[in-house]
Amino acid sequence: MTVSDVSELRLAWHVFRCPRKSDTKTRFLRELARTVAQAPRPPRGGIAPPFLEIGTRSGGSALLMLRVLSDVYRSVGPAPFVLTVDPYGARPYEGAPFVYDDRHYRAMKRALAPYANHVHYMMDSELFLRELDHFYLWAASATRRLDRFTLVYLDGSHDPEIVWHEIVTLLPRLIAGGSLIVDDTDWFEGAVRRRLDATAAGLGVRVRHNGKQSIIVKPADTA
Ligand SMILES: C[S@@+](CC[C@H](N)C(=O)[O-])C[C@H]1O[C@@H](n2cnc3c(N)ncnc32)[C@H](O)[C@@H]1O
Repeated sequence: MTVSDVSELRLAWHVFRCPRKSDTKTRFLRELARTVAQAPRPPRGGIAPPFLEIGTRSGGSALLMLRVLSDVYRSVGPAPFVLTVDPYGARPYEGAPFVYDDRHYRAMKRALAPYANHVHYMMDSELFLRELDHFYLWAASATRRLDRFTLVYLDGSHDPEIVWHEIVTLLPRLIAGGSLIVDDTDWFEGAVRRRLDATAAGLGVRVRHNGKQSIIVKPADTA
């Protein structure tokens, strides 16, 4: 596996083009872009396990991921799939008055339509994670189970129990050297953040915080 040579300047350019679609601040989008660019890559010609985003809204952060990946893989081989999961449908948003509905769904479809490696799952993370073992994708004439992810970005429900379920279900599926970014871990008095700090060693991962984001890295020498 190799690490991308996409420059900081190009990453800044990708982020600069995205804020119109995402209200996530530049500093956090930069962290996401950098983590996507530095994610492990398969040997030339191979297809990396998918990137996954839970919570998509108008597609801003997913668009950033897709643009950075298309840059990273431009002369390398096929870019990995980016899977997004969001139920829309004005699902009540815990403790906040935000409404995510058809307007956001349409905007997401418009923004991400050019990318054949984008797949949207119109469901909440509870259903997605329950059915994960039954899903597969066709790529290069073969089926690929969704049993491994290169990078996971959690920005859906912020309910601490739901987020924790997402973390513990997806961590074992993260490849060695892969990262899981959790947004808004300062919500609910930092419940998820405190739980992460308390259990990181037992989970065999490294955790650091960048403002409201928590970044979990699975060491490269993990089986
Ligand atoms: C903060 S927005 C995501 C913003 C997006 N990542 C960006 O930066 O452009 C949260 C999204 O999570 C979705 N959501 C809420 N609960 C969810 C759940 N249980 N599973 C998946 N998505 C959920 C909402 O519909 C909303 O679109």
